[in-house]
Amino acid sequence: MQPAELNLARYRVRLDSETDFSGWRDAARRLALNDVRPEDIGWHVAPGSDQADLPSVPVGAQLAVPREFIDRAETAFCHSDPGRFAFLYRLLWRLRSEPKLLAIASDPDTRRLETMEKAVRRDSHKMHAFVRFRKIGDGDEERYVAWFEPDHFIVERNADFFVRRFTGMRWTILTPYASADWDGERLAIGPGAAKGDAPAQDDTEALWRTYFENIFNPARLKVKAMQKEMPKKYWRNLPEASLIPELIAGADKAAKDMIARMPTAPAPHHAKVQAKHWPKHEPTEATDDDGASTITELREASKGCHRCPLWRDATQTVFGEGPDNAKVIFVGEQPGDQEDLAGKPFVGPAGKVFDAILDDAGVDRQKVYVTNAVKHFKFEPRGKRRIHSKPNAGEVQACRWWIDREFALIKPELAVALGATAALSLLGKTIPVTKMRGQVIEREDGLRVFITIHPSFILRIQEPAEKDAERERFLRDMKEVKRLMAA
Ligand code: URA
Repeated sequence: MQPAELNLARYRVRLDSETDFSGWRDAARRLALNDVRPEDIGWHVAPGSDQADLPSVPVGAQLAVPREFIDRAETAFCHSDPGRFAFLYRLLWRLRSEPKLLAIASDPDTRRLETMEKAVRRDSHKMHAFVRFRKIGDGDEERYVAWFEPDHFIVERNADFFVRRFTGMRWTILTPYASADWDGERLAIGPGAAKGDAPAQDDTEALWRTYFENIFNPARLKVKAMQKEMPKKYWRNLPEASLIPELIAGADKAAKDMIARMPTAPAPHHAKVQAKHWPKHEPTEATDDDGASTITELREASKGCHRCPLWRDATQTVFGEGPDNAKVIFVGEQPGDQEDLAGKPFVGPAGKVFDAILDDAGVDRQKVYVTNAVKHFKFEPRGKRRIHSKPNAGEVQACRWWIDREFALIKPELAVALGATAALSLLGKTIPVTKMRGQVIEREDGLRVFITIHPSFILRIQEPAEKDAERERFLRDMKEVKRLMAA
């Protein structure tokens, strides 16, 4: 709002900062409860100055606002549009007489709200993906500084993401309007900075470049799509961006080399089933934010996963199954032939053994969540058959993204590692499973991981007495899991 307009407004509301949502909310509540019309209010940001008198809340007055509005307004509030304070008040004003307004997708105000939210979410997504820290100092003095230029006021909103991601580092993110500083214990939001305040180069540059060279897939190169995902504006602050022109230029030859190295085509029945699935799912980029806040959304996001090359020959992503508030998560190795075709974990021969023993132990499979360390079937074609092939450490690591997200959303009390691959995925190191079976290892984040064998181990034993004995041992392990679930 221009100063002249502001001076003419009947009520002038001062906000402490561009992101002072609580100040806006308090003022908006008082004004709406006093029936102050949107056109009578002037909003402005003036840190530290006095608030002009606002009417107080009439005794007993209540403002009924849908919770959805508050959440959505808080997101849109981060947009850089200077008219957002007045716009959000107008929405609030309308909601009093049109409580269903936010469900009317054709309404221009509803559309504007949605566009603003989307822009803020997209900007946050870019921040998660493109902040690059540079090291300064050594030993006790070591800390990391990053320069980032967001389009909107998103630093406060996203600072916690970086605290969770880089808890063990001391870091500062500088942007033109605000900075976030984490000293290892405390997060502080401070004033904006200039690009020159951030260091330009350090040893991690080379690491970023190597990483980018490795994840770059020449066969999937779509320059326009790539620039949409990684707009040129971000390139100048990305160490790896200097490689982009060179990689684009060499992409054609690299793609041909890659095709020459492709594995043998899988069996025909697989191709038929795969054809049913893949066209429906756009590949999802390996970003740091899948936008999923429920297991259903996460499962959907996983359908286009291309984090490692296993998607190419598998029919579909086989995601975990079970209640989203399960107390325990069982983690297997990877889907087998039947799971790959059915799109469900543990439905083939190993799944049948697993189900029967769970049943004998009194564990209801419907009440537990069952998933795999690796979500795509890895196999070697042999004639018409597809023979299971063990996932390697890189594939397990690439898929940890999904496992970690499953655990973060379900928050189980206990994890059960079925075999060595699951243990590697959950604990990040190789575990001698037969030696340590029946034991619980507590991770640094407090998650208890129960170690046992994979049920397919029982299937592979030929000698009947030995097979029975192994089944008994696994049954004992499952009874212990049941006891731990109840504890
Ligand atoms: N083996 C596994 O580890 N997972 C399955 O889903 C099936 C077999």
